[in-house]
Amino acid sequence: MSTRATDRVVETDVLVLGSGIAGLSYAIKAAAYGTVTVITKKEDSEANTNYAQGGIAAVMDPTDSFDAHIADTLQAGDGLCDVDAVRLLVEEGPARVRELIDYGVRFSYSTDDPKELSLAREGGHSARRIVRADDLTGRAIEAGLLDAADRAGVRIHEHYFALDLWVVESDRGPRCAGAVVVDRHGGELVAVHARVTYVATGGCGQAYRFTTNPSIATGDGIAMAYRAGAAIANMEFIQFHPTGLYPVEGRPFLISETVRGEGAILRNLDRQPFMQNHGTAELAPRDEVARAIDAEMRNTGASHVWLDCSPISRERFEERFPNILATCRERGFDPPEDMLPVVPAAHYLCGGIQTDHWGRTAIHALLAVGEVACTGVHGANRLASNSLLEAVVFGERAAEVTQDLLAERSPGAEEPPIMAPTPPVENSAVELRTEIGKILWDGAGIVRDDDGLARAAGQLEELGRRVPSFSAVPEMGETVNLFQVAQLIVESARRRHESRGLHHTLTYPETDPAQQRDTVLVREVESPVG
Ligand code: FAD
Ligand code: SIN
Repeated sequence: MSTRATDRVVETDVLVLGSGIAGLSYAIKAAAYGTVTVITKKEDSEANTNYAQGGIAAVMDPTDSFDAHIADTLQAGDGLCDVDAVRLLVEEGPARVRELIDYGVRFSYSTDDPKELSLAREGGHSARRIVRADDLTGRAIEAGLLDAADRAGVRIHEHYFALDLWVVESDRGPRCAGAVVVDRHGGELVAVHARVTYVATGGCGQAYRFTTNPSIATGDGIAMAYRAGAAIANMEFIQFHPTGLYPVEGRPFLISETVRGEGAILRNLDRQPFMQNHGTAELAPRDEVARAIDAEMRNTGASHVWLDCSPISRERFEERFPNILATCRERGFDPPEDMLPVVPAAHYLCGGIQTDHWGRTAIHALLAVGEVACTGVHGANRLASNSLLEAVVFGERAAEVTQDLLAERSPGAEEPPIMAPTPPVENSAVELRTEIGKILWDGAGIVRDDDGLARAAGQLEELGRRVPSFSAVPEMGETVNLFQVAQLIVESARRRHESRGLHHTLTYPETDPAQQRDTVLVREVESPVG
């Protein structure tokens, strides 16, 4: 089989991979410094961002404080947060939220005072500090950013799938020269030559059987960066959201934590509450609630538990959660009168491509921000609603260094990359994904142990015989990425011999201060781009 040359080369100053909050908020700013090309693998708004419900955490209330938000974030992160990164997140957050308002994002305001933002409460937060747009915060942010990007002249290329990063040797070590992308309309292979490449491809919830994430969350950016030689950190810290609407397979739907923030309580199948022994009960940190539900389900063999929304009045529920109400009704439940069947589901990746405080990675001119990145703000567990915040704060910081990167001497024309051949697809991408999801759910889920992790590693190795090492066919390319990310998750989990934050293992139930460090993995496989 011969290698494959790209069909054409496109030039841009800045290449942005992904059109969620991290991609768009950065692209709008980078457009002030040069030409920006955004590529995204589906429709422009199809991103985890679009599904965010609860909101974006920021200190916007005079009775709240930076110190309190910092303390809550560090508490959730269980000793692994980068304290300086957390301080930047919290202190720069309010300005970024005001910027979103200036872009035209329509947040919810108090009915008593229409100038006051209506702030919600979520688990782990010591104050009401969640800025929201009803229960459709992500959709409002995505719409506002798409409009602002349009006004800034940012061109978004929909249905372009980024296959791999284009990395060259330079006097600064490995340097990113862009990426190879596939035009999904006709299959053309395009080399996008860029002076700065910014990865904002989001998380990898699809690696798990049960997830709140939409189908785009296949860990592409992490797998690409890993193949290119960037450092990948803390992949063992997968956050499970306690309340996915059961059943979660097929069309996942989240019941926002803000519903518990308004008073809803969890009950087992005997209708008994079971969170009262956990400090802050229903509003205990997310990992604690997810583990309590998992234990309840394991102990009783139940397939779900109940979320009782009856402490919230019908009027309040209708006003606060119009989208949740509409979707529950579509699925045959009418809260707050009806209890909702809920189960935990994979929700958020705390680890990812390791970056500094400016989104810079180990590869020169390669930046990463958003769920794909590991900036250090989440440590071993993310505080609710800090994700959207992280994307805008570090997106802004990455835009600042983009100016410096564009001021460097231009590398000039470069030999376009050659791709490894795509082997014939003998196995169904869907079947392989189903197997990956089951392996991770069973072996590297909410509660782990050494035997289960070893079994998962063996099963992945076995499965690897049927997964190609590379594919330029997007559906199989995603599956290859999911497979590689699954290996990174299991390998990282096997290296941590303690329980900390989201990594909870029965083999090492205690936290070990000697292991208060990041788990960092660097490539062992060859990149298919030469
Ligand atoms: P995304 O928004 O996921 O965007 C990734 C983009 O990259 C997409 O456009 C995708 O199509 C594109 N892409 C991926 N791979 C490729 C490729 N190979 N080629 C080209 N394009 C590609 N966080 C909060 O802070 N508050 C909340 O209330 C909240 N609620 C949530 C509710 C749900 C149901 C979910 C799933 C998540 C929620 N989160 C919340 C988490 C938060 O939404 C995400 O972490 C955040 O939106 C990630 O933004 P992002 O820009 O990094 O990635
Ligand atoms: C939610 O609304 O419960 C999700 C919030 C988050 O993931 O930060």
